[in-house]
Amino acid sequence: MSVLQSSLRPLPSKLHKSTLALMRCFSDDFHKRRELRTPAPNGDIKKEFTNVTSFYYQSAIDAAAMQPSVRLTPAAILYSGKSPDQSHILRSAQYLHKELPVRIAHRINGFRNLPFIVGCHPTLLYVHELYIRAFHILSEFGPIRDMEQEQQWSDALRNLLDDHKDVVTQLAEGFAECRKYVSDEGLIKTFLDRTLTSRLGIRMLSEHHLALHDEKPNHVGIINITFSPRKLVEKKAEFIRSICEAKYGASPNVKVNGHVNCTFPYIQPPLDYILGELLKNAMRASMESHIQGTNIPDITVTIANNDHHFVFRISDRGGGIPAKIIHQVFDYNFTTSGSMLDDRVDRGIFGQMMDTDNTGPAPGKMHGYGFGLPTSHAYAKYLGGSLTLETLEGIGTDVYLRLSHIDGRSESFRI
Ligand SMILES: Nc1ncnc2c1ncn2[C@@H]1O[C@H](COP(=O)(O)OP(=O)(O)O)[C@@H](O)[C@H]1O
Ligand SMILES: [Mg+2]
Repeated sequence: MSVLQSSLRPLPSKLHKSTLALMRCFSDDFHKRRELRTPAPNGDIKKEFTNVTSFYYQSAIDAAAMQPSVRLTPAAILYSGKSPDQSHILRSAQYLHKELPVRIAHRINGFRNLPFIVGCHPTLLYVHELYIRAFHILSEFGPIRDMEQEQQWSDALRNLLDDHKDVVTQLAEGFAECRKYVSDEGLIKTFLDRTLTSRLGIRMLSEHHLALHDEKPNHVGIINITFSPRKLVEKKAEFIRSICEAKYGASPNVKVNGHVNCTFPYIQPPLDYILGELLKNAMRASMESHIQGTNIPDITVTIANNDHHFVFRISDRGGGIPAKIIHQVFDYNFTTSGSMLDDRVDRGIFGQMMDTDNTGPAPGKMHGYGFGLPTSHAYAKYLGGSLTLETLEGIGTDVYLRLSHIDGRSESFRI
């Protein structure tokens, strides 16, 4: 009997027969989809899950979920010091070894508390299972006392990051299919905000740990000491323009103005995602409001930097957002792009181009999941900032992304 099966508790007798039948039916579909879609995730410990019910009763997860998470400020990470004997890497691994199973257990609790019909959706069950596997792989990893054990830990972490790289796309697809069964919008929003920001935190900490092994100029782990907002905007604009051209045959120019020469320490990966999504939205609106493809108006990105904050304002002349939908644009899965399944850019070329950026759903897609704004909003808040927009119907939209500095001068967020 596996560790997992032995920790299962019996099903509560009050589950209705029809509920059990539904669970079995979803479970069969889940196994079919899982076989078709993905190879078994990497890792030393191979767990087999016999049916949906086994996801709900595991005492080790219950115990970890009771513990509080210990979040760090970026300044604490930045100034934690580098020791020549690499003990800083060992300390970082020991912190993650304790911390990650707790965070993952909290998220598994989130899956368990979803309305039953949603929690049984095959794609969401698949993601739930990924979390359970990750929990067991990490929590059953022995103590990390030397650099050899640290190496094994880092390998396990790298494999898990890879196994989980498509999770946001999978959540977007899963919820698109089953949210019609849930009347309480707030419940889905709370679940997705927490799951996506927790995932962002886990990935930032893990990638930071892995990056501590490399000697990259001007970097401490994933923190870029001389981060340049202008360079990032230019890099993202070039990439999103190539996606836009593949879809529409042309693309708007992107102008950058304001504090274009400022540099400061920052963590780039979440900004990669947010700016990518905001630029996609601005380009799509610009292209679709000028269908004749001529005189496409420029998009202007203004950068403003002060002691405590820095701001990106993305201004487009793409016709604005109609008043009748403005209150919905921050809802998960809200999109005006028609069926989310019909114009997916094949993972081939664009997927490969962006395989290093796994913070959000299918980065090669121009639009369609309705996840760009709500996810960016949740990430901005998690990073101690905000995402707001002002729109002039018939003219265009200004989106403001405000973020706080991480150099310890002001109250900071925690990862
Ligand atoms: N700059 C913009 N101009 C006009 N409409 C926008 C803009 N940004 C977002 N929207 C509207 O908000 C909706 C949700 O955006 P988003 O969450 O990024 O999802 P998606 O791009 O997948 O549709 C879009 O479908 C679009 O209708
Ligand atoms: Mg979008």
